[in-house]
Amino acid sequence: MNNTNWYKTGIIYEIYPAGFTQEGLQGVINKLDYIKMLGADAIWLCPIFKSPFVDSGYDVSDYYSINERFGTISDFDKFIKKAHDMGLKIILDIALNHTSNKHYWFKEACKSKDSVYRDYYIFRDGKNETCPNNWVSSKTLKPTWTYNEATNDYYLHIYTKYQPDLNWRSERLRNEIYDILEFWIQKNVDGFRLDVINKIAKPSNIENVESDEVYADYLYENHDDSHRFIQELRQRVFDKHECILMLGQTSGVSVVEGIQYGNKANGELDLFLQFDHMDMDGRNKVKLQQAIMKWQNIDCMGAWPTLFMGSHDSSRMVNKFATSHKEYIDIAAKMLCALQLCLKGTQIIYMGDELAIFNQKNNHIDEFDDIRSKDIYYAKLKEGNCKEKIVKELNYITRDNARRQMPWEKAVVMQDDNNSVLSFYKKIIEWRRGEEAIMYGRTVSIHDSDENIFGYQRIFEDSIITVLANMSDKEVELDNQAYGREIISNYKNKNNYTLLPYQVRIYKRVG
Ligand code: GLC
Repeated sequence: MNNTNWYKTGIIYEIYPAGFTQEGLQGVINKLDYIKMLGADAIWLCPIFKSPFVDSGYDVSDYYSINERFGTISDFDKFIKKAHDMGLKIILDIALNHTSNKHYWFKEACKSKDSVYRDYYIFRDGKNETCPNNWVSSKTLKPTWTYNEATNDYYLHIYTKYQPDLNWRSERLRNEIYDILEFWIQKNVDGFRLDVINKIAKPSNIENVESDEVYADYLYENHDDSHRFIQELRQRVFDKHECILMLGQTSGVSVVEGIQYGNKANGELDLFLQFDHMDMDGRNKVKLQQAIMKWQNIDCMGAWPTLFMGSHDSSRMVNKFATSHKEYIDIAAKMLCALQLCLKGTQIIYMGDELAIFNQKNNHIDEFDDIRSKDIYYAKLKEGNCKEKIVKELNYITRDNARRQMPWEKAVVMQDDNNSVLSFYKKIIEWRRGEEAIMYGRTVSIHDSDENIFGYQRIFEDSIITVLANMSDKEVELDNQAYGREIISNYKNKNNYTLLPYQVRIYKRVG
């Protein structure tokens, strides 16, 4: 395998450390064997920097220290050494669009208009005793401006008011960012997941940008200057080193924009995360297939797809894309595993999806931890919605579902059971490594308009792998096309003309 491109064929395992174990980095060290056993190549570690943790670490108060709840810099050194010894790469998740309001830069910037840190953030005068413009965040459903009494003006924050946006137009700020990344590269990290990197550039005349209906974060994402800043970031930091992965979170991108970020020739990101399939009703099979398929062959245009179906920001994968019926959870989790991991691209598995973890039900707002769920709850309550209805909706989208403690007892049981979801993941991961069609093949969508079957083929030289996944709880009939030999399924169904509920079949034909 070409080492420069390890990530193209690799599996990245995403860890949200507060939910992974209760022992921080030491806990992750203790579980490296498990991650290795699963067959991952790399770990994406959600933020571990010092942080008040208002937004689970995506609010950094010091980029050079580790959050006490996870350990110390020396624990980090131990962790990276151990991971590398075991052949696992480490990708740090870093939020550089904003800091915490407890960051020294921000505290200083708030004190006076003359502060040297003033232009690290975006302050503007109010208009008519209120915010500089009418922007509202789609995430908090609140204005994106908060008043700062000491300087009698407002600062911009696209997320919570505890996360002031950084001003990437400041060259000094950009240099600070390069130093931070360099520091962690010197600590031997293998890459970064760059949080909301397509939102870093705001229009310079921001106070005059008004909008009636669109949320601010949609208005300015993918600004031309974000591309320019990313290019500079690559030149100033990443190009100086070999193989440090730039994985950018770029929600809301079109295919054309995605290619702009991911096309090598543009000198921007190595990989980007798009959210088409996450930002939709995952149970609409026809639309889901379209949403996933449109990204599959972007390698023809110099970029490379990345696929994830669960994350620290979403509900559990099995509930979102398949079922909430307990009797089907395991079988559906296996189906989704095969469906995802046979597609083209860098694959990201979210912790616990390999154990078929599913959503839990909360009955009251006090049971939620996620700040975004709380913001939505109070905004909707203000609009006059009834409490029970809001809680019901939140149960489906709350990020808490992804962030609860990993059930390690379940992992132990599953590890010893050849028929478990975990064993199925292991089997698929091991098998796909040896299949060039899975690694590099062209993807052709089949059964596009079928309401139940998600189908596709992966074609490389003379070999064709066909995947047929029944995304429904009904038995469905199969056409009798000659797809070749069936090599993997999540059922022992011998009838070749049907797919049982949530059945997946993988076929191989050579020649
Ligand atoms: C990204 C993160 C999310 C966080 C937000 C603000 O979307 O994935 O968890 O809340 O950025 O940093």
